[in-house]
Amino acid sequence: MKGIVLAGGSATRLRPLTSTLSKHILPVYDKPMIYYPLSVLMLAGVRDVLIVHRAHHAGLFRELLGDGSHLGIHIEYAEQDEPNGIAEALIIGADFIGDDQVALVLGDNIFHGPRFTKVLGDSARELDGCALFGYWVSDPRSYAVGETGPDGRLVSLEEKPDRPRSNLAVTGLYMYDSDVVGIAKNMVPSARGELEITDVNRAYLEQGRARLTELGRGFAWLDMGTQESLLHAGQYVQLLEQRQGERIACIEEVALNCGFISPAQCRRLGEQLSGSAYGSYVCHIADRHGPATAA
Ligand code: G1P
Repeated sequence: MKGIVLAGGSATRLRPLTSTLSKHILPVYDKPMIYYPLSVLMLAGVRDVLIVHRAHHAGLFRELLGDGSHLGIHIEYAEQDEPNGIAEALIIGADFIGDDQVALVLGDNIFHGPRFTKVLGDSARELDGCALFGYWVSDPRSYAVGETGPDGRLVSLEEKPDRPRSNLAVTGLYMYDSDVVGIAKNMVPSARGELEITDVNRAYLEQGRARLTELGRGFAWLDMGTQESLLHAGQYVQLLEQRQGERIACIEEVALNCGFISPAQCRRLGEQLSGSAYGSYVCHIADRHGPATAA
């Protein structure tokens, strides 16, 4: 399965923070925002990643993440000229996806909770069409809203409805079979001029091939479109990390736990970040994981 992080968009609601910087580089407590969605793809077992970004942000991402080889993964980059909608990422990534399955994650989403790796693995393994992930929110009107049948199949889907039929928001993580490129290419822009991911998902729904897995109570799904939600996400990460002493979305640790890099490689990454508590943590994780044998 290939993976795409959509880190485009203009993030107007976060100006002036985003007047010069990409939103997806902004700090979420102790690490850049993009670490969170990138770690989701890695936990799903994805090793081929495409980061879709605005042209003027190219240097930022390349400097931060390079070709991914230090994490035992392969990262490519592609430009989104204008913020033309989430589904456009699938068209931009058409050649990258090829005949493979793909997981698309929005660059400003945080997923954190128990058994998430198993949920991701099961969804990828059992993928037949499209897999969506639902999250119960008190007010779902600013999201896509789905309803499921008893077998977990999606039975209705609406984008930002005034009167939602359920409280189940569709989160910004989507898994698709290789049909998705053809489906996305046939989409027409919505009234707001965007290629809507919800229209792609509705095409699978109409074929009876869309599943929605509910991320239950005790799970955290956060998005970061506003100053307030960005701050809340940082506070959430700070609270849990300080309480538990474990870091959320530490990509070096994820790479180690996934078997993408050795403890020795992980330790070297930590040493490159020396002087920071984050770097010390990466070294500590490497040492805890096993003897630092040669990579
Ligand atoms: C987008 C999608 C929406 C989804 C949401 C999740 O909304 O269009 O279907 O529920 O992401 O974060 P946007 O953030 O573009 O308003």
